[in-house]
Amino acid sequence: MADSNQIKNIAIVGASGQVGSSVLKHLLKSPKGFKITVITRTDSQATFPSSVTVKKGTYDDAQFMEDAFKGQDAAIFALHFSAQAAQDGMLDAAAKAGVKWLIPNEYAGDGMNEAMMKAAPAFAPKLQSRKHIEELSKTYEGVKWIGVTTNPFFESFLVNSSKVFGINTAAHTATIYPDAGRFNTSTLDRIGLSVTRMLSLPITDSSNPRASLQHYANNFLYTSSYCVTQSELLQAIQKAKGESEADWTVTKDKTVKGSIEQSEAAMKEGNFQAGFALVGQVFRENMSPRCASANVRAVLYRYIGEGLGGNYEDKAQEDRKALGLEAEQDSFEAAVKRVLKV
Ligand SMILES: NC(=O)c1ccc[n+]([C@@H]2O[C@H](COP(=O)([O-])OP(=O)(O)OC[C@H]3O[C@@H](n4cnc5c(N)ncnc54)[C@H](OP(=O)(O)O)[C@@H]3O)[C@@H](O)[C@H]2O)c1
Repeated sequence: MADSNQIKNIAIVGASGQVGSSVLKHLLKSPKGFKITVITRTDSQATFPSSVTVKKGTYDDAQFMEDAFKGQDAAIFALHFSAQAAQDGMLDAAAKAGVKWLIPNEYAGDGMNEAMMKAAPAFAPKLQSRKHIEELSKTYEGVKWIGVTTNPFFESFLVNSSKVFGINTAAHTATIYPDAGRFNTSTLDRIGLSVTRMLSLPITDSSNPRASLQHYANNFLYTSSYCVTQSELLQAIQKAKGESEADWTVTKDKTVKGSIEQSEAAMKEGNFQAGFALVGQVFRENMSPRCASANVRAVLYRYIGEGLGGNYEDKAQEDRKALGLEAEQDSFEAAVKRVLKV
């Protein structure tokens, strides 16, 4: 007999992407026997395991989306930046179809940290989508969002560490900011596993409400693989590559605070207010590359700046406990070595 206190049917939009493919992999491996529907674009080249129901169509086709969402308990959105603008229409379709648990495109900083959300404009569309779901719940009873806070993806930030965290592995140069602090980062695998464990929880549990899905209604799940400093990252890279400090030029003449000010000035150059209604628009023509990159950096500096919201380890630990997750098996140094393939 079906367990009415358990999510069973889950739709994923963007299941072939970085986040989506990891979530899909873990959902399919789960002993809970989830029934998965993948919603993908008509012209997508993505392929999926035969155990998955695949519905192909157009994201902005409201009827197609509503039909695709029928019968689903939860819908996970893991969309490419450029598809963010289509999300609200898809949320409407999901709510209309009767889906109660909506996991919108987040996978970023701590959405409960108001100062951080207000400070970095790239977070605005995420906040707006959460508000949109809250509006929908006035018409469609029981609809709620769950945000997934990941901070920077471990793999991509490490590979792009020159651009994002001041560490250029090819040039052997690093900028270590004196006002940087400890920050969380999540591997893609950990994100998929954490989302799966959360959706595996009983919907309600009066004996342990903290370990129920209801705890996450209009709330955030905090995933994390490591909580590290820039210096620890630099040392791990040096160790992985068998290099010493003498092989590197390390400067400490810039601050996070000053870098945020510079990013904000660059954003203003790019017709920022008009051009950044949605994060996908960083790729559009009305924003100069300098302005677009400043937008991304404005977020990343907030991840690493001491006291700016990038360290949510306490919340991540609570969630690991609720989800029955151990810390990563790989040490931070081993994980750095694996990703750098050295
Ligand atoms: N915290 C971080 O460090 C970080 C880094 C990157 C992204 N993010 C966040 O995570 C979200 C998901 O990112 P992701 O990297 O997992 O997404 P992704 O791999 O770039 O794309 C996810 C899926 O979106 C669909 N899609 C729709 N329109 C597309 C288009 N024009 N081009 C390519 N794919 C398109 C594709 O699925 P189908 O082919 O099946 O339609 C694709 O597999 C982002 O929107 C962003 O909010 C966070």
